[in-house]
Amino acid sequence: VPYLEDALHRERIIHGMQAGTVPLKYAYAGSAAHMHDVLAHTSGYLSVVGAATHEVSALAMALPDKIPNQLAEIGPGNGTHTCAFLECLRQTDLSHLRYLGLDFSATLLAHACRRLGERNLVQDLATALWDIEEFHTKQILRWRYSSEPLLVCVLGHTLGNLEDPVHALRNIALSTQAGDFIVASLALMPPDLDETAVLSPYRGATFAAAVLEPLRAVGLDEGVLSLELRLAERAVVGEAVFNRATTFAGCYFSRRQRIHCFTSRRYLPQEAVQMFSAAGWDVFHTAMDEDATHLVVVARQ
Ligand SMILES: C[S@@+](CC[C@H](N)C(=O)[O-])C[C@H]1O[C@@H](n2cnc3c(N)ncnc32)[C@H](O)[C@@H]1O
Repeated sequence: VPYLEDALHRERIIHGMQAGTVPLKYAYAGSAAHMHDVLAHTSGYLSVVGAATHEVSALAMALPDKIPNQLAEIGPGNGTHTCAFLECLRQTDLSHLRYLGLDFSATLLAHACRRLGERNLVQDLATALWDIEEFHTKQILRWRYSSEPLLVCVLGHTLGNLEDPVHALRNIALSTQAGDFIVASLALMPPDLDETAVLSPYRGATFAAAVLEPLRAVGLDEGVLSLELRLAERAVVGEAVFNRATTFAGCYFSRRQRIHCFTSRRYLPQEAVQMFSAAGWDVFHTAMDEDATHLVVVARQ
């Protein structure tokens, strides 16, 4: 059953439809979170997200003396990737892990918490709602032991899907303190660009249903829309296209009118580093995986 998590989301999604862009964050909340949970098990999704083993080995290289044991993860999704990441971290010398999960979606935070709890991977588990695309937050400061550095984790290409990743990275910097670290993983542009290969993880009904769910959740008849994908520069773009003229929420949408509802950028390594620098982070380690499809960036505040 389609539903929204917050009454304000309806207003914002409808406003986005009228303006021609619905931010992707709504495709993770309410009933869309359950669709995301299904999508997150598909091989296409997993290929974009990358491997937790790569993230942890890059982190161990970057911080050989000590990986902080207080982790603030932004965007844990359904928690599956987080569990794999924490399992790998357990192989290092870390003990007594404190974990704070932060997300736009209360529903996904609940999924992630359940999975983390079942595996007993952290000693101290907390969650908080935060929209990193809007403002900075004091919630990390309130939760942390401020005498010790903190590690912010933004895993599985979460940054590449945001409307404005530099703004989000600035909000994260403003929510942490000097000496804190960030580890982020990003999907790269394959050197031998092939549009079919880049778009292939996004083909199929599961992905389309997940991306279109916010429009369904505000009451739009799903039969009037289809999802079209294209590669624009180095970004995968998804647009909902009206297949017939429709009036919805007092607004007229013509046949073939488009609503932008998905972006997934692919980075060049130097571009990824510049993005962190532009947001005030000092990048001191990067690591590419074997097939040059993912990059891990480790930086200091
Ligand atoms: C692509 S999923 C990645 C999930 C997970 N890290 C993984 O690797 O599978 C993106 C995650 O970021 C969260 N997210 C998206 N936009 C956000 C925003 N503006 N503020 C906070 N969290 C956001 C989503 O709810 C979701 O949990």
